[in-house]
Amino acid sequence: MSDRVERLRAARSATILAFESSCDETAVAVVRDGREVLANQILSQIDRHAVFGGVVPEIASRMHVEALDPLLDAALNEAGMTLAGIDAVAVTCGPGLVGALLTGVSYAKALAYARDLPLVAVNHIEGHVSANYLAHPELEPPFACLVASGGHSHIVLVERYGEYRLLGQTLDDAAGEAFDKVARVLDIPYPGGPLLDKLAEEGDENRYRFPHPHTPGKYDFSFSGLKTAVINQAHNLRQQGEEIAAADFAASFRRAVVDALVGKSVAAAVEAGATALAAAGGVAANRLLRRELVRRGEQAGLRVFLPPVALCTDNAAMIGSAAFYRLMRGETAALDLNALPSLRMFS
Ligand code: KG4
Ligand code: ZN
Repeated sequence: MSDRVERLRAARSATILAFESSCDETAVAVVRDGREVLANQILSQIDRHAVFGGVVPEIASRMHVEALDPLLDAALNEAGMTLAGIDAVAVTCGPGLVGALLTGVSYAKALAYARDLPLVAVNHIEGHVSANYLAHPELEPPFACLVASGGHSHIVLVERYGEYRLLGQTLDDAAGEAFDKVARVLDIPYPGGPLLDKLAEEGDENRYRFPHPHTPGKYDFSFSGLKTAVINQAHNLRQQGEEIAAADFAASFRRAVVDALVGKSVAAAVEAGATALAAAGGVAANRLLRRELVRRGEQAGLRVFLPPVALCTDNAAMIGSAAFYRLMRGETAALDLNALPSLRMFS
């Protein structure tokens, strides 16, 4: 391990420049000691992909390449520092779109090499979990965390910093993916999750009946059957010439997803002996999910932690936080680091 890394570990202090480019957000952040956000720059490409109804990987990669330079300048500016104030460079190396990941990985490697700085590779999911450290100074492992995003739905137990045990996961679609696909049937533009959520606030969640998913694993999820049932019901109603009450439809669907996510994460946390439950990922921005996690989590005797909405969706500050704890464990990456589109957090 380099002297530099040893010094940072001994001081238990590092200012980290972090990059995130795994999907359709280019993000650069500066994070101090894993907890303090000095800069958090995000450029969303959503408008460019919305016309296609989903993320177009080639467009995403090209837009990342264009955005990285100006976002780095903006982040350093926001933090009021130059590269001289940076102790390490962090980057999301997976999971995600390979071309998109490669832009950030190459950029971070070049910068680490040019400035002779330690490089830290971060798993995107671990990044989401770590968003909680930025918002809650008092939160420390062990705690359980529900991670629900466009590509992932996991319940993890954070045993120590950087050490995770999988308690449950989706067997098919991710929760966010189900939100986006059902939104499409309601003619809500991509990504539908946030708008469907907003619409659902006005709706009657008891108006439509949808199946509550069953899974063989106690704490696993399955959203594909629910999604198909919901989409079929919409088509059937339309074929019968019936008007779909969009807000009620959205509310009924949201209730089914949230009940599954909350019921299982609370039960898994309690059985694992955790006293705290956190949430992360884009779907953790969902209004009903937030309310129900607090209500049912606290009922079960858990302290519940939610990141602010801006830190639930993709950002680089969460990568900077996760990287700090990796660095403190002496876990740095070599310059032959590659993008790992199917990177897993659990072996
Ligand atoms: O974490 P994220 O930004 O990207 C991934 O790593 O996938 O999550 C994006 C996902 C999308 O599927 C989006 O529709 C969903 O999170 N999402 C929501 C809400 N806000 C974002 N789903 C339900 N309700 C929301 N308020
Ligand atoms: Zn994400």
